[in-house]
Amino acid sequence: MTLSQRTIGVVTGGGDCPGLNAAIRAIVHAGKRQHGWKVIGVPDSFSGLIWPEKCRELTFESTRGILPLGGTILGTTNSKDPFAFPVVEAGRTSVCDYSQRCIEGIRQLGIEALIVIGGNGTLAIAERFARCGVNIVAIPKTIDNDLQCTDVTLGFDSALHIATEAVDRLHSTAESHHRVMIVEMMGRDAGWIALYAGTAGGADVILIPEIPFKIESVCAAIRRREALGRTFTVIAIAEGARMPERDAAGSPLPKAAPGQAAQTLMHAIRERLQKEVRVTVLGHLQRGGTPSPADRILAARFGAAAVDLVQRDGYGQMVALRGTKIEAVPIAAAIDPVRLVDLENDVLQTARAIGINFGDES
Ligand code: F6P
Repeated sequence: MTLSQRTIGVVTGGGDCPGLNAAIRAIVHAGKRQHGWKVIGVPDSFSGLIWPEKCRELTFESTRGILPLGGTILGTTNSKDPFAFPVVEAGRTSVCDYSQRCIEGIRQLGIEALIVIGGNGTLAIAERFARCGVNIVAIPKTIDNDLQCTDVTLGFDSALHIATEAVDRLHSTAESHHRVMIVEMMGRDAGWIALYAGTAGGADVILIPEIPFKIESVCAAIRRREALGRTFTVIAIAEGARMPERDAAGSPLPKAAPGQAAQTLMHAIRERLQKEVRVTVLGHLQRGGTPSPADRILAARFGAAAVDLVQRDGYGQMVALRGTKIEAVPIAAAIDPVRLVDLENDVLQTARAIGINFGDES
């Protein structure tokens, strides 16, 4: 093994998710054990590069015990794009381009390559830095699972566990009280969590952004269950799921604001059916806590593969799971467009085949 004194940096950006610390640990171990590199942790996404004095070396010691921890020991943000950085002065916010300060920070720290762990937003910024000449390798993470070119993103499986458990738990209380239980899951643009957790938990109705739903179709599904003596219904709804602008009678319906999808649906069902309806919004519970075993293994594979990619100067690329293999794909191809649930998707088709309603049947 040839040991060289390379220095690499690690950035975690965007919304956190379970598995980030496991990936950081894997990068430190692979970078040091395989190549003898120095690894620098950049705090709070790219912001840490604007103030390089805040960056710290990551060692075996400083990363000991972090594998099962949720969140990120580096900190993160999803609102501080260095190309349009919000600066507050005298109570007024203006926007500054701090990208050159970041590049200067990278130079000062002696960082040859940055491993960026992020979702769409963070990797779009990483890609801009790559076009400015920064050596970037990316690791895909987001509970939303909405990046192209990879079968799965880091964090999705853990979020799925939490959301599935919620569907399981809501079943018993829904049945006891003869209620409609609506559980709202994250997913502004893509309904991966609601589709998978709803199917895994046996939800009766799943509503996702990719399939605009008709309230009458949802109510018909509830009525059909009642007719069969099933006096309760569990509905999994993604935060970005929406009804068409008008209902069957042509009356305008209120459009669900982000985070309000379940509330809007609850009112719409209550208006039409004499049923008790309750709402549970899972929110950031889906992003917190310990990673699942599958995410820990994925984090280790992505981390080690990213180090390998740096070693091979495979810059501008993202590690990706394709089938059973970890491969490298261009970052630009992974971030645009957002990966939505394809209407031909096998899990979606399977869910329909086993009787789950998507709110689009008449
Ligand atoms: O992208 C991850 C995600 O958790 C989305 O599912 C959600 O819409 C958003 O982030 C929430 O962001 P914030 O943490 O800023 O509320």
